[in-house]
Amino acid sequence: MLTELDQIERKALQALESSQDEATLEAWRVAHLGRSSPLMLVFDQLGSLAKDERPIIGRRANEIKRVLEAAYSARSESLRQSALQRSLQSERLDVTLPGRALPVGRLHPATISLRTIIRAFADMGFQVYRSPEVETDDFNFGLLNMPPNHPARDKWDTYYTNMPNTSLRPHTSPGQIHVMRQYAPEPIRAILPGMCYRYEQVSANHETQFNQLEVLAVGRNITFGDLKGTISNFARRMFGENFRTRIRPSYFPFTEPSAEYDFECLLCGGKGCSVCAGTGWLEIGGCGMVHPIVLQNGGYDPEKFSGFAAGLGTERIMMLKHRIEDIRYFWANDMRFLEQF
Ligand code: PHE
Repeated sequence: MLTELDQIERKALQALESSQDEATLEAWRVAHLGRSSPLMLVFDQLGSLAKDERPIIGRRANEIKRVLEAAYSARSESLRQSALQRSLQSERLDVTLPGRALPVGRLHPATISLRTIIRAFADMGFQVYRSPEVETDDFNFGLLNMPPNHPARDKWDTYYTNMPNTSLRPHTSPGQIHVMRQYAPEPIRAILPGMCYRYEQVSANHETQFNQLEVLAVGRNITFGDLKGTISNFARRMFGENFRTRIRPSYFPFTEPSAEYDFECLLCGGKGCSVCAGTGWLEIGGCGMVHPIVLQNGGYDPEKFSGFAAGLGTERIMMLKHRIEDIRYFWANDMRFLEQF
């Protein structure tokens, strides 16, 4: 009986060596410590043994039971440890790695451009004034010295709304009337930035919507020299000390005299290229001395006051600054374009 017990112990310990995971370990427990394991059968047989044999066999069987139980829990613990090690290895996390950057929104290039331009004018003492994007016919044209059926209205291809005589503004000039009416007879130095809309054929330098910035100065001694000086000063603030501008005679009903001003083409450095049609100059906007009728409509006495006004396309300035060759990029919402700013 004692040799039999030794064998039971040896076999059990040997079998334990080959249990590699929880499932085989559990199977081992059932086989060697379970109800019908050989060791338990020995306990069952104790009663039928001779009286003097019983305590010896009993003690030895108990001893084996403790040994097997201890071996079982040691094995179980070591399997648990190695499983833990394995998962620590395979799921290793380096907390010192830099995190993945979240995509962050940013300002639209048209907004950046508008802000840069506004800052340049603000530095020259101009204040920002906001005027509506939806205007009546009177403000868009009439009060700007273009009575109904005036041929110059054709210059602005206008989007009309379904309300009578109301349209999306085709330029920021109607804002001149709003500012003057608010501040007359005080002197004015204001800029009016904002979106304008024109029913136009879209092309590389024409869009149906674009930002314009109206510049308006009204006072007792404003001259054409002030207009020229303001434009060239602004251009140098944007493009540097040696940047060249020029002014050409033109016509607008709301200014007299009127002019258009050009900036030196930065894409070819003034030599002439396809963007400036070989001239070396890019047209930036219109300007002139505020027409006496417009001054009057704004509440100023043209005998005592004079003023200058200018309008500039702010996307065009951004195109010059960053050598963007197509204005359509601005509203196409292509992330590859937008993310460069
Ligand atoms: N409003 C004119 C345009 O959009 C530009 C302009 C502004 C001309 C101010 C003269 C004075 O074409």
